[in-house]
Amino acid sequence: MFYVTTPIYYVNDEPHIGHAYTTLIADALARWHRLLGEGTLFLTGTDEHGLKVQRAAEKNGITPQEQADRFAVRFVDAWQSLGISNDDFIRTTEPRHHRAVQKLLQACYDRGDIELGHYEGLYSVADEAYVTAEEVPDLERQGRPVICMQEENYFFKLSRYEQPLLDWYESHPGFVTPEIRRNEALGFIRQGLKDFSISRTSIDWGIPLPWDPRHVTYVWFDALTNYLTAAGYGTEDPAFPVRWAGARHLIGKDILRFHCVYWPAMLLSAGLEPPRAIHVHGYLLVGGEKMSKTRLNQIAPAALVEVAGVDGFRYHFLADQRFGPDGEFSFEGMVARYNADLANNFGNLAARVAAVVASKCGGVGPAPSADSPLAEAAGRAFEETAAAWERVAPSEALEATWRLIREANAYLEANEPWKMEPGREVAAVLGDALEVLRLVALLASPAVPGACGEVWRRIGLPGSPEESRLPDAAAWGGYPGGLPVRKGPSLFPRIAV
Ligand code: MSP
Repeated sequence: MFYVTTPIYYVNDEPHIGHAYTTLIADALARWHRLLGEGTLFLTGTDEHGLKVQRAAEKNGITPQEQADRFAVRFVDAWQSLGISNDDFIRTTEPRHHRAVQKLLQACYDRGDIELGHYEGLYSVADEAYVTAEEVPDLERQGRPVICMQEENYFFKLSRYEQPLLDWYESHPGFVTPEIRRNEALGFIRQGLKDFSISRTSIDWGIPLPWDPRHVTYVWFDALTNYLTAAGYGTEDPAFPVRWAGARHLIGKDILRFHCVYWPAMLLSAGLEPPRAIHVHGYLLVGGEKMSKTRLNQIAPAALVEVAGVDGFRYHFLADQRFGPDGEFSFEGMVARYNADLANNFGNLAARVAAVVASKCGGVGPAPSADSPLAEAAGRAFEETAAAWERVAPSEALEATWRLIREANAYLEANEPWKMEPGREVAAVLGDALEVLRLVALLASPAVPGACGEVWRRIGLPGSPEESRLPDAAAWGGYPGGLPVRKGPSLFPRIAV
């Protein structure tokens, strides 16, 4: 089972391209694994409890529930407009989630890992976390207010989990990727772990603790549990263990400590296994800074879709940003990449092939030759594309797929079928090019599903790339020939610069 999750997004903010970035990667991975024929569950959703949301609601003069309802829809709509294929959308205010959180809390409590204590400290509302005095000036500079908080809290005994966590990391080398993030998490653990507070009495916008309903659950304990809820935890669903065993979380590096240290400890405490893997990416920077409400540098996905289309948007974030390090968003970069890879390479190959099939073969696509010089390149492209998706490297996967497009364009340049007389020779060249188009439509469909579906139809194939199954469908020679090939409007009209 391939169970992929995104972080759940706070409902005090509009969806922006930083949120879209994580969601897109999860979407492309889910689509790739569906092509492989694996059972796939792709989850995203919204994080709706806590002080941050309560404050946003007060500011807007509405109840927290109204705030959550209003903003959850914006995320649902944003993802729909980007072709995101999530199988489930979780909202932490749903009853199914309440049940799961209470079950997890009770399990940790029964294990003796949750104890009552007193807390007095500095609290950053924006981060929903206690902070140290040294961190205050920096946070205030970033416009993240710090308040003094004094309360009776329940604490999770994280300090007991230092060794179990180190053991888990040791025996699961691929638990956190890339390596640099794994080391960061290990660094946190080795520094020594402090118990952390998991409840609040000062607010009521949250899930009550089952054994002491004066307290509501601290946002992170609540939020992280969403991954279990959607897998069926807290229900009788027999598929829960299978789903959970395949769980992979995609996250930005801002929430590494919660996911890579707190979360596995909570799970071990409750007698559950940590997720199979956590893949951590860097920030998408705008003007050298992380996007935020206070810096007014947020970009809405729709603003870019208007220029580059859904596929152009998707391709840019998957191909141009490497998974792992921070990356700078640049409008010019997006347009340049669109024009080079989509308009010139992919779009041009599709347009040329359709035009020459019309003029030299009466619009009927010939079959590829078994011993085509492109067959080896196609085999390699599949192997490399598959390996890159497997290691969660979308930009490398697309690079590998695009090498095949370039090889096919070079092959056409070298053979110039448009200058040939109609006959066997021209049919052989075009059959090979059509087969490359079929393969590219298949391999690139997780990234640019709209265009790939269109190419599939234009070269006369029934169904859609999504109905194919890898690796069989990637074998050279799948294009049957004898199918009507249609020209059509430009797949990727050039963007004027
Ligand atoms: N609600 C918590 C997460 C709980 S998960 C159990 C939260 N929400 S958030 O709305 O702030 O979204 C955080 C996630 O959005 C990041 O981890 C990252 O995946 C994505 N991003 C938000 N801004 C981003 C960038 N500027 N760049 C890259 N990703 C960004 O934290």
